[in-house]
Amino acid sequence: MKTLVIVAHPQLSESRVNKAWVERMKQEADVTVHDLYAAYPNFEIDVEKEQQLVMEHDRIVFQFPLYWYSTPALLKQWQDVVLTYGWAYGSEGNKLHDKEFLLAISAGGPEQAYQRDGYNYFTIAELTTPLQAMANLTGMKYLAPFKFHGVMQASEEQIKHSAEEYVKHALHPALATEGVR
Ligand SMILES: Cc1cc2nc3c(=O)[nH]c(=O)nc-3n(C[C@H](O)[C@H](O)[C@H](O)COP(=O)(O)O)c2cc1C
Repeated sequence: MKTLVIVAHPQLSESRVNKAWVERMKQEADVTVHDLYAAYPNFEIDVEKEQQLVMEHDRIVFQFPLYWYSTPALLKQWQDVVLTYGWAYGSEGNKLHDKEFLLAISAGGPEQAYQRDGYNYFTIAELTTPLQAMANLTGMKYLAPFKFHGVMQASEEQIKHSAEEYVKHALHPALATEGVR
């Protein structure tokens, strides 16, 4: 099982959570960590190269900080240009079929905020439905997302612990129960 972690963080060097996750994930065998903003600072994505990379892996992880209840812009751009008709979808677009797909999301807001009676009203599961729909359309199996809330208040110890939990969750998703819709 080969895992591709597509990381989308515009300032990874300033990051606390995503940087810790990347550093921890890089220690794992059979994992490719792909820093999207480092590869394409001008948003000029090499579509063939990205498609090749995806085809070489069995599980695809989108790792990102929640930005305006969505993904950072380059990850949306990646979907728009890499997931082409005839490759990712359409009658002959079967290149993603039977791959596994998982989200790993850090959020500034606390977990209680992402509920009906919280100040964001919508749950993370609701906000990420377009990504789940993308997985459905492209024939990928949508696994339970990994989430980390309340980044501002988190201690170094909690972030370090989250990196261990993330690796366990992303590489052994069958063991993960938290976050299942
Ligand atoms: C442009 C921008 C938009 C953001 N939007 C949200 C948001 O919609 N919801 C939220 O909980 N946090 C939001 N945040 C906070 C980030 O999710 C948080 O800073 C990030 O997850 C921290 O991870 P890092 O330590 O890897 O940078 C936003 C931050 C920025 C800079």
